[in-house]
Amino acid sequence: MAKTKSVYFCSNCGYDSPKWIGKCPSCGEWNTFVEEKVSTKASKDSLLPTSELNSAPVKLSEIKQTTEERIQMPSAELNRVLGGGLVPGSIVLIGGEPGIGKSTLVLQNMIRIRSCKVLYISGEESARQLKMRADRLGVDGGECYIVCETSLEKIFHHIQNFTPGIVVVDSIQTIASDALESSAGSVGQVRECAASFLKYAKESGVPVVLIGHINKEGSIAGPKVLEHIVDAVLQFEGDRHYMYRLLRSIKNRFGSTSEMGIYEMTQVGLREVSNPSELLLSQTDEELSGVSIGVTLEGARSFMVEAQALVSTAAYGTAQRSVTGFGSKRMNMLLAVLEKRVGFKLAQKDVFLNIAGGLKVNDPALDLSVICAILSSNVDLVIPRGVCMSGEVGLSGEIRPITRIEQRIGEADKLGFETIFVPKYNLKGCDLSKYKIKIVEVSKVEDVFRQLFGK
Ligand code: TYD
Ligand code: MG
Repeated sequence: MAKTKSVYFCSNCGYDSPKWIGKCPSCGEWNTFVEEKVSTKASKDSLLPTSELNSAPVKLSEIKQTTEERIQMPSAELNRVLGGGLVPGSIVLIGGEPGIGKSTLVLQNMIRIRSCKVLYISGEESARQLKMRADRLGVDGGECYIVCETSLEKIFHHIQNFTPGIVVVDSIQTIASDALESSAGSVGQVRECAASFLKYAKESGVPVVLIGHINKEGSIAGPKVLEHIVDAVLQFEGDRHYMYRLLRSIKNRFGSTSEMGIYEMTQVGLREVSNPSELLLSQTDEELSGVSIGVTLEGARSFMVEAQALVSTAAYGTAQRSVTGFGSKRMNMLLAVLEKRVGFKLAQKDVFLNIAGGLKVNDPALDLSVICAILSSNVDLVIPRGVCMSGEVGLSGEIRPITRIEQRIGEADKLGFETIFVPKYNLKGCDLSKYKIKIVEVSKVEDVFRQLFGK
């Protein structure tokens, strides 16, 4: 029987030591020692007898393609972000800040599953707390079984006896293996536990969902180690002051990473938001200067977002630039374009920019609406409510073509907008007769300015 013991390794140079050390004597780096389990098997060098091999190389073309049935999630948004359901034998990590709603999201889905038994391993909450939450979500619990346990070895006992169809671990940072001395949540423990669940998922074909916390720097605790191990990483994010939450796919071996799901946190759990545009546009009838609406794309979906800008005379010598939800370097570039091309003297002005709804966007097609919001605030003239726009702005003030223009026009048309500004030469081969919306083609920032404000 192989005996296991643990050793500390420097994650920078690989130096090993029986004890934890702060500074590596070999490479001089600080805080790099990580505990790892090593098994002391006697026959290191000798080859394994062939009888112990349980897999042989197979020719790629001879591997049978089985269209594996994915396990459908009750929430359509989660299903889409996963790429169409949970793949058997896969391991998915859902990361997010504490209190953002990870447990709610997962529990809400698991208690609605009827096709297989779900084992929900909770290291954070007691069974009664989970029951209270399920009651709040208004579902009876279905095929979901709860185990409150933090020891990795005991968890595997439960799994063996129970033979679940899906395993959920909430959260991976609370689980610890007895083989390691370090406490739960340390890099060594997180890696060891995740690797055990990975091995289990691959061998048994049972999908495992891990919930993971995010640290202050925004990465999933146990720097990057988890992201390498798992098949898919979904990030649950959002501002705690806003009610909506975004589920993004950061890595997905079985689907696209550009998908995004939107939820709203309510008193009775998370509600799916299937039409994001409604949520992201402010619902006032009053027309205000400094507000401009653009069409953006996330994954396969298009929706409208509102850019809000405030331009005012700088109170102090140096002008302030403040941006939320949009790249600050990108905004500075757009301000330079405005200064040079439209002749606005913005150097002495404070500029504040905000993408409404706490959303972060990096679609270059929003350049045009950002520029228009700034222009509108600067001249204090309103952009009519029925107007929206989409276009990338180049360094010489030209409006550059963007991707999937028809889909964007379609979205604006569907939501009842009257006019859309789009880049010139972007519409070749498009059938525009089906849209009611008036399409204005523009090629330069000056054009847009003239069209909007007549100057
Ligand atoms: P939780 O899922 O516990 O977050 P995490 O697992 O990511 O730490 O949810 C946290 C917040 O969600 C909590 O502050 C309460 C709120 N909440 C609701 O607003 N409505 C609900 O129906 C539920 C279950 C939670
Ligand atoms: Mg939780």
